[in-house]
Amino acid sequence: MRRLLLAIGPLLFAATARAQKFDQLAKTPPMGWNSWNKFACNVSERLIRETADAMVTTGMRDAGYQYLNIDDCWHGARDSLGFIHEDAARFPSGMKALADYVHAKGLKFGVYSDAGAKTCAGRLGSRGHEYQDAITYARWGVDYLKYDWCNTDSLKAQGAYMTMRDALHAAGRPVVFSICEWGTAQPWTWGPAVGHLWRTTTDITDCFDCVRNYGGWSPGSVLAILDKNKELRAAAGPGHWNDPDMLEVGNGMSPSEDRAHFAMWAMMAAPLIAGNDLQHMAPATRALLTNRDLIAVDQDTLGVQGFPYRTTSDGVEVWFKPLAGGDWAMTVLNRAAAARRVEFDWAHEGVADNLTKHTAGFAKTTYRLRDLVTGGDLGTTASALTTVVPSHDVLVVRLRRM
Ligand code: GLA
Repeated sequence: MRRLLLAIGPLLFAATARAQKFDQLAKTPPMGWNSWNKFACNVSERLIRETADAMVTTGMRDAGYQYLNIDDCWHGARDSLGFIHEDAARFPSGMKALADYVHAKGLKFGVYSDAGAKTCAGRLGSRGHEYQDAITYARWGVDYLKYDWCNTDSLKAQGAYMTMRDALHAAGRPVVFSICEWGTAQPWTWGPAVGHLWRTTTDITDCFDCVRNYGGWSPGSVLAILDKNKELRAAAGPGHWNDPDMLEVGNGMSPSEDRAHFAMWAMMAAPLIAGNDLQHMAPATRALLTNRDLIAVDQDTLGVQGFPYRTTSDGVEVWFKPLAGGDWAMTVLNRAAAARRVEFDWAHEGVADNLTKHTAGFAKTTYRLRDLVTGGDLGTTASALTTVVPSHDVLVVRLRRM
């Protein structure tokens, strides 16, 4: 018996050690594009190829958006052995050829499945086929899996997501694992060991501040999602991020609202997964999505989710996010329906992040201020900052120690 244990002990250890996620991925929040917010079930090989082309020609790829992810509705049937196939009418060349095309553009390729028997749009889910699907994805060259939670009956979320994590790991191809469970089973408490990001809320909708109801199911406005996600900052960090859902930038909100949405997602170190039509994007949308300075706030290597520093009854919030090297990002968010004049007198302010212990005392240290939307110089913290922030808009500033 002892000899047997000695012989198989290392194998048992290897099996246990394999039960983990790929841990060198998503050191900063994942960036990419996903089909759902704009195209829903209207996905096709042509859309994905043209979007891959657009990611290059618009500068999105070079700004850091690397994952090109197909959401729901790519699925066809399972074959007699149970292996999943793409919908051949929508993807006539097959997923492997499509992944090759995406990779040849210098991008990475993502797909979507569901822990239940069916996806949210009623296509085939992975339940009972997890290891088989993981092998199929590895054969295709998949780099990112968004794994949804519809039709899961009495499954327990943590266990179901661990099964797929282990299946992906066993298949051997590094895959970013995106937990899409909407926050119901508090994935921020178990997600860091299981995936690289986890949805914290219901689905986003292209509205900054509204309540919508689709017969018992309500998506979240930008502000509603912000308010839920901001409470969860302790869970986020390199390799494991809160996911307040994909971007609605360019999908119908006003330029101010798009700017505020994008800036707040950057302040929260959220994954930046664009969800608009990249082939027909207004110049302002493109400029916002590829704003290197805002992206740098999101992608900062310190990996800290920012926090509200002050909230006032007139609808103004001042947020801070500590950055690597002693810099800070600051955002003044105006949630109100009218413009607000804001004065921020540095001499009487001091930022202390209770979570990470980073502090900024402006009485002792002077910082230079740069407006990250216009690129303009806003002087230093030696004199008070006075600004007017339009309704549903932001002022985003980077503070650099002088
Ligand atoms: C759920 C997810 C969405 C999207 C759809 C697809 O609602 O939360 O992000 O993937 O399913 O059906």
